[in-house]
Amino acid sequence: MIAILCFAPQSRAQNPNPGARAGDEGLALTPPMGWYPWNEFGQEPQNEKLIREIVGALVSRGMKEAGYAYVGPDEGICFSRDASGKLTSNLERYPSGLRGLGDFIHKNGLKYALYTDAGTRTCSKAMPGAKDHEFEDMAAFAQWRTDYLKVDWCNTQGQDVVKSYTKLGAALHAAGRPIVFSLCSWGEGEPWKWAAGVGNLWRTTGDICSPGKADWNNAMKVAAANEKLYEAAGPGHWNDPDMMIVGMDGLSEAQDRSFFSLWCMMAAPLMAGNDLRKMSASTVRILTNLEAIGIDQDPLGIQGHIVRRNGKVEIWAGKRLFDGSQAVLVFNQGAAPAQVQVAWPDVGLEESASLYVRNLWTHQTTGPHSGGVSVTVEPNDVALLRISKGNAFPVPPIIVADTYLVSLSGAGSAAQKLTGTVTVKTHGSNALPLWKVRPGLPPWLSVTVTRNGKSQTLTNIVSTAGLKKGLYYALVRADNVEPVSHMHMSALYYDVDLEITGSTR
Ligand code: GLA
Repeated sequence: MIAILCFAPQSRAQNPNPGARAGDEGLALTPPMGWYPWNEFGQEPQNEKLIREIVGALVSRGMKEAGYAYVGPDEGICFSRDASGKLTSNLERYPSGLRGLGDFIHKNGLKYALYTDAGTRTCSKAMPGAKDHEFEDMAAFAQWRTDYLKVDWCNTQGQDVVKSYTKLGAALHAAGRPIVFSLCSWGEGEPWKWAAGVGNLWRTTGDICSPGKADWNNAMKVAAANEKLYEAAGPGHWNDPDMMIVGMDGLSEAQDRSFFSLWCMMAAPLMAGNDLRKMSASTVRILTNLEAIGIDQDPLGIQGHIVRRNGKVEIWAGKRLFDGSQAVLVFNQGAAPAQVQVAWPDVGLEESASLYVRNLWTHQTTGPHSGGVSVTVEPNDVALLRISKGNAFPVPPIIVADTYLVSLSGAGSAAQKLTGTVTVKTHGSNALPLWKVRPGLPPWLSVTVTRNGKSQTLTNIVSTAGLKKGLYYALVRADNVEPVSHMHMSALYYDVDLEITGSTR
């Protein structure tokens, strides 16, 4: 018997690990990070070549290393429904098919994002929606190895928003693959009141811009609406003020920095929306600022909010971080520089405290300061601060590269034991916490975890004894069990594909 661990397209997937729905799947325990095409491209130029080039840029420009993981077509005209009712890939635009595109993304250590609609058609009407096909369609997304699904709300006349998304959530659960569920009703039906048990994030407003046209004023309206909903956000369930416009034409560097800081303070999903293939050095610096990302990805998952306004200057706080420090944002929307006194009681700190202040854009620490700190903020700019009793400012581990690559280390005529490894890398200043593999794996697959300094190796031991010829896959889940914050940072899923060829004994 010959056994090969591979990524071959799969015709007979057997998924012995059906998992559970939102909440206990450990999905999106920190806000999802990735890239989505809509803000820059709309649906027209989207195709496989574009997505592959963006994957290249995510890797080569340091975005993957900074934690951006989910990538794929938005309403990219990527599938249709055939006469039998089944979803089929648009091979003209995506010659590898949607499964092939997913495999490419996974091989690059990234996660696969796809898109559909809860109604009869997607917004442009170019693709079928999932209405009345919920269970088959979610099964198709699972077969394509999707890790993140955005579900839009166009062409839903007569549909009840809660019932529609709840049914889709049940269908995703039934599909047996842990998929981050992103609801996109643009705030319709007030999802912040009910969607935490259904999905992992929900859009709170209409679109932040039309394709290719970054709109600063509209972005500020979106931020203002999203800010008010801060009590609804937390690990596994996030307010989504839409994809980012950082790095798109028409914004100044200060506006890019301010936008990114606002999204980080709001624990918003960080889905870049710009063309990653032609980013300026300053855009890269902003999007990959690990100290700012550490505010967004903080494992406590608290959304900050405005605590004080003085004319055009806002002070944002209420975002306690895992190490006991507080994130504070001073945002000046006025036309002149503002000198702002941040008094400790205004941001929830003891008046008598003597505290250190880390500026997350200049990367400088000052202090200790008593009673408060004074900052000068330029027009449309921010001061993003981390305030703490000590002068060490740990960034939580930002977990990247949960790659699916598994290599063959044995083959022969007898039943084989195969081993493969998956390496988890973290960025941020904390040591990697321990990981544990969840029980419930199929009997022919066992996984052990060994710890190896800052990177940790998960070793698979796969016994092919007794297996029939065919293609199999299993999802293996590893959990962070010693989180720095006493809360889970992340659950990590990866696919193991196993193809048995030749004769069985
Ligand atoms: C809606 C969504 C956008 C985008 C488009 C695609 O407008 O809100 O984010 O997905 O549909 O048509």
